[in-house]
Amino acid sequence: MRIVVDLTRCQGYAQCVFLAPEVFELHGEDALLYDPAVPDDQLDRVRQAAAACPVQAILVGEE
Ligand code: F3S
Repeated sequence: MRIVVDLTRCQGYAQCVFLAPEVFELHGEDALLYDPAVPDDQLDRVRQAAAACPVQAILVGEE
């Protein structure tokens, strides 16, 4: 599974970092780093993160 975060939408709410810390990392208030190729053992966490993001910035694509 691959993800894209729309960084123009991301406001640094950090729900993704809280729910999937192995995939998302915040540097400063709104500099989000992430792994676009999600490991299989992180799929559920990343789906939860996408659902929890208040501005729907995490776009999930199936492969
Ligand atoms: Fe940004 Fe949404 Fe995560 S606003 S920091 S992608 S929860």
